[in-house]
This record gives sequence, structure tokens and C-alpha cells, in this order.
Amino acid sequence: MKTLTQVVILGASGDLTARKLIPALYASFKEDWFTEPIQIVGVARRDWTDQDFADHISQFQRLESDEEKESWKRFLGWIKYSKLHLDKPEEYKALSDNLQGLAGEQESVSRVFYLAIKPELFYSTVSGLDGAGLLDQCQGSYSRVVVEKPFGHNQESAATLNRQLLSLVEEEQLYRIDHYLGKETVQNILAFRFRNAMFEPLWNQKYVELVQITVAEEVVVGSRGGYYDSSGAINDIMQNHLLQLVALVAMEPPATLDGDAIRNEKVKVLGSLRLPETTRDLESHLVRGQYEGYLQELGVHPESQTETFAAVRTYIDNWRWGGVPFLLRTGKALKDRFTSITLQFRMPPHNLFGGYDGDFCHFRPNSLRIRIQPNEGIDLYFDVKKPGSGTDMQPAKLTFDYEEFFGVPSPEAYQRLLQDVILGDQSLFIRSDEVEQSWRWTDSLRDTITKVPMQTYPVGSWGPDSSGELFQHCEGRWMHH
Ligand code: BG6
Repeated sequence: MKTLTQVVILGASGDLTARKLIPALYASFKEDWFTEPIQIVGVARRDWTDQDFADHISQFQRLESDEEKESWKRFLGWIKYSKLHLDKPEEYKALSDNLQGLAGEQESVSRVFYLAIKPELFYSTVSGLDGAGLLDQCQGSYSRVVVEKPFGHNQESAATLNRQLLSLVEEEQLYRIDHYLGKETVQNILAFRFRNAMFEPLWNQKYVELVQITVAEEVVVGSRGGYYDSSGAINDIMQNHLLQLVALVAMEPPATLDGDAIRNEKVKVLGSLRLPETTRDLESHLVRGQYEGYLQELGVHPESQTETFAAVRTYIDNWRWGGVPFLLRTGKALKDRFTSITLQFRMPPHNLFGGYDGDFCHFRPNSLRIRIQPNEGIDLYFDVKKPGSGTDMQPAKLTFDYEEFFGVPSPEAYQRLLQDVILGDQSLFIRSDEVEQSWRWTDSLRDTITKVPMQTYPVGSWGPDSSGELFQHCEGRWMHH
């Protein structure tokens, strides 16, 4: 017997639905990924018909060829709409009736409820779904809830939200999204580390001198000023995307690729992160900044102290990483958009060859860069001898480029994540203890960073100059790609 899957998107009139979720489902449709029948049901409070919803999402599609138009038309056959005021518990029964009506004679129906809504509504919405019996599972069919970020705004609120949601659903039904985990290059961190035996023996404090991770954005806050001003770079990016990269780079090998096996190891890393509040010399560990003109952005308080840039020198206090600085940096309105992780290896114990052009300080011949975006790839840097007499050295690199190698661009993060929800694979989703651990460190960072002065930086720069001072004693400098 085939099971019908209903993907129910709550918050269907919003940006995320049109720009990310629908295109991701459409991409899976085009690849014939769905083997069982499927319906996509948009839910919002507007008085829309199925056709209105279809028209709305169609505006965001670029359909160039006739073939594309034809395939989009077929996809629209799956699209339905159901009206609901999320804050009115009494309306959820009607949603349930509607979903059953749409399923028709189908005996077995599984459901994914995607909460593309304001975080304040997470609990009441899941509670409404529960009240209408929509979260009950029976043999052969499931009911899963996907929650977007932010999951809480500090450790306490995340713990409360965990408690509330877990009183209604099991952890196995709950999928907390961090879209970075859906990026192909992010997933490849584990494959690269644990499939290839040649790097892992070097992946520790004995050989790694420093790790730097940057999530740089060129965009300013634009129309998201209201949200952003209450969040800031630390809550918006560090607590989730950046700490996830730290966890994947630093974790121990899991016993299997099972969701819990991976998440157990990630939680241990997050729990070993040194709390910023224990730092003595704050200014050489923490930098915060605001881009020029931020205070004039729509929705931003004119005296806002919200950071649009943050850089941190931190440590992972465990056996593998003891003493290795992890330099983390993120910001908006920077010179370029890129995310990358660089592991910088120690100098050989005896320097036979000297530096480059007399610079004996700022050079390290060996580093490994994982380019998460845009130009996804991996670079391995090493020194070679310049041809001719003498022993002059020159940096060289071996490069692997995803798109060039596979001949196709990497799929969008949401495509993989939605597929995993349907497959019931939680390894790319954040578990309750993981989200609380990352807030624990983030809370400490947020409280401590206010003790260093807020710097302003020009739009299109690399943030406050003082962020360069987080590197000590010839340790190197920030990478710009
Ligand atoms: C989101 C943040 O989670 O990630 C945004 O809220 C940010 O502020 C975005 O712009 C970055 O995602 P990506 O995939 O473009 O790097």
C-alpha cells in the first residue's frame, strides 16, 4: 500500500515558502525523487484558493523553456491551500478535516508540518496541531514537525521551548533546522575527515596551530532591520551556523552515521567550548562592530547597541584541541560574501628554508581551507622551491572544486533537508541538548562582549581593524576567501 505524504507549510504566504521551500520541493519533483504520492498544502490566514496560492508561488519561479513551464504546471497539480489563523485553537479541527478531505480515500497518510512562522507562535501552533489529533502517529505513517530558527533567544528560552514542544511530540518527531547543515560542503566536512585516513592523524593540537572560521556577508540588513536589531550577528549566525561548523570540524569520529551518534559527538564539542566570561584579557579575545549607517536602517533603534559584526578568539577545552585557538568571525556589510574554514598547521620543528622575502613571521606553509560558499571546494596549501639555485620558497596549492569536479552546482540546502525529513533522518537536524549547549556559550559571549567597546566599520570593509589583533605572536591573519 502506498502512503500519501502531505507536506503542510504553515506560514505559506511568507518569503521562506516562496523563495526556499517550494523551489526545494520542486527540485526534488524534477529529479523524480518522490516515489510515493505527495501533496503540498500551504497554510496561512489569507483568504486564498488553491489557485491563488499557486499564482503566488509561480511569481517567484523563473521558467525559461517550454519544458520547464510544462513541468512546473504538473508540479502545481500537487499544490493545495488551506486557510487558518494560527492563533485560534478552534480552527485546527477544520484544518484536520481539510487535510483528510484532500487525502480522499487514501488509507495511509504521513504528514510533515513545516513551521515557517514567527518563533512566538511555535508552541501554540504545535499545540493546536496536537489538539486536532494531527500529531498522532500510527503504524506505517508518521507525523513530523519542522521548526525554523531561531529556536529560543537564550539558553533559558530554548530550554522552555524544548520542554513545551516535547510535552506534545517526541524528539524523533521534531526537526530543528539549521540550513547550513543542508549545504553540500558542510556535509562533506564529515566525509572528508572520516573517509580519508590521511588528514585525521593531523587533526589535533599536535599539528594544528589555529583554526579560523568566517561567515562573511556583503548584504546590509535591508528590510530585516526589525528582526535583526533584536538579534544581532551573535544570535543570528554565531549561535547556529558558525557553532555548527565548529562542532563538525572539531568533533570526534562518531561510531556510525546515525543521527544520534553524530549529535552525541557534536554536543560534546559544544559543551567543551570555553565560556567567554572566563577570559581575562577581553580586548584580545572579543571584537564587536556596527557598520556605518546601521542606525539609520529601517526598523533599527537609533541608539541601538546591536552588533552587526563579531569576532571571537575561543578554545575547545578537550584532549584533541587543548590550547588551539579557534577564531570565529561573522558580519554583515563586509567586502565580500564567503564562508570558509581554515586549519593552519604548525611550522616544522626546524626551519631550514627561512621565510618569504624576509618575512619570517606571518607565514605558515601548510593550511587546509574548506570553502563552504560561494566557490565550494577544498584547498591544500604547501610550499615549493622556486626553480634555480638557492632555496627560495613559494606557496602553492592543490585545489578541489565541487562544481568543476561534479559538473553540476551543489543542490540547495533546503532540498536535502526536506528530503531527510521525509526519510526520517535526523542527522542534519539539531537535537534539544545541542541547541541548549550552543545557547549556553552564546549567552556567555553576548554578556561578555558588551564589555568591549563597539567599533564602527565602513560598509564594504572587513569589519573593525582591531579584529586582526585576535591573532597573536605571528599567528597569521584573517583569510578573505
Ligand atoms: C540566516 C540569517 O540564518 O542565514 C541571515 O538569519 C543570513 O541573516 C543567512 O543572511 C545566511 O545564509 P546563507 O545560506 O546565505 O549563507
